[in-house]
Amino acid sequence: MIALGIEGTAHTLGMGIVTEKEILANVFDTLTTERGGIHPKEAAEHHAKLLKPLLEKALKDAGISMGDVDVVAFSQGPGLGPALRVVATAARALALRYNKPIVGVNHCIAHVEISKLFGDIKDPVGLYVSGGNTQVIALEGGRYRVFGETLDIGIGNALDMFARELGIGFPGGPRIEELAQKGNKYIELPYAVKGMDLSFSGILTEAVRKYKSGKYRVEDLAYSFQETAFAALVEVTERALAHTEKNEVVLVGGVAANKRLREMLKGMAEDRGAKFFVPPFEVCRDNGAMIAYTGLKMFKAGIKFKLEETVVKQKFRTDEVEVTWT
Ligand code: ATP
Ligand code: FE2
Repeated sequence: MIALGIEGTAHTLGMGIVTEKEILANVFDTLTTERGGIHPKEAAEHHAKLLKPLLEKALKDAGISMGDVDVVAFSQGPGLGPALRVVATAARALALRYNKPIVGVNHCIAHVEISKLFGDIKDPVGLYVSGGNTQVIALEGGRYRVFGETLDIGIGNALDMFARELGIGFPGGPRIEELAQKGNKYIELPYAVKGMDLSFSGILTEAVRKYKSGKYRVEDLAYSFQETAFAALVEVTERALAHTEKNEVVLVGGVAANKRLREMLKGMAEDRGAKFFVPPFEVCRDNGAMIAYTGLKMFKAGIKFKLEETVVKQKFRTDEVEVTWT
């Protein structure tokens, strides 16, 4: 079977074409602005403009035509309303025009599900870290439960905002990582675990304040920012692992590119006798293949959406979805 997946929750429009076993195409384009930040309308316009060329490219890469597609999947949420609506409208139009079934996919779940296509992963605890999202999720009782999440900004946004204050450009994550490699002195920053959840605004405010004081090396601040924020992510993931008694950890989302975060999480997983896995970056970042892959699994489990069920869900909760396909 073949699924087409359209991703467009935020600034990336992605088109993926997959079978149960492999990715046939995975193309994307990201709206980048000099300053970063959230631009719902611009994202929607970007997606509308690129839908046709990206679809054509994906079909060409896969060597198929729309007639070969068995199901059309799209990112139903969570995300930016205007961007979500463009993608849902496109998915509906394709489903109607080519008489295909349609399935709406939860973006956060798709990030974790796609790891199963690459690794020998069956039932992981997932740490999903991106610009806008930070969640620790795992299947329990037929749903992906959220074991911890950010109460304010995503870790990626926190890194981007800190980088902006340092004047080192956007996206900030990779630049902070580079700087941090040259740091070695730990400077105390507020810890980010709040009960079961996380909060990164305190670290950000304090790191910016210390930077502006002129008393610290930026390399040391970048290093300390990463150490403090990542330790919190590892702690919440470890708790979920202990609670669920699972033995696999996957790291997904754009921030999964970070080597120090990988190292810290791997150490924790191995100490607990759990397997640690990071899928290839093209499916860690926002992409259409993960939507196609999850949509295909849902469809094969008998899930089909009526057109009126395809309304977008800006605040789509991870634990809203009954997982009947694994
Ligand atoms: P979402 O809509 O899921 O929140 P997104 O629009 O933030 O996704 P992603 O590609 O998943 O898109 O993630 C981008 C984020 O990843 C940015 O905040 C960027 O700074 C961060 N990032 C990328 N590379 C690294 C890195 N090496 N270290 C830390 N952060 C990184
Ligand atoms: Fe994402």
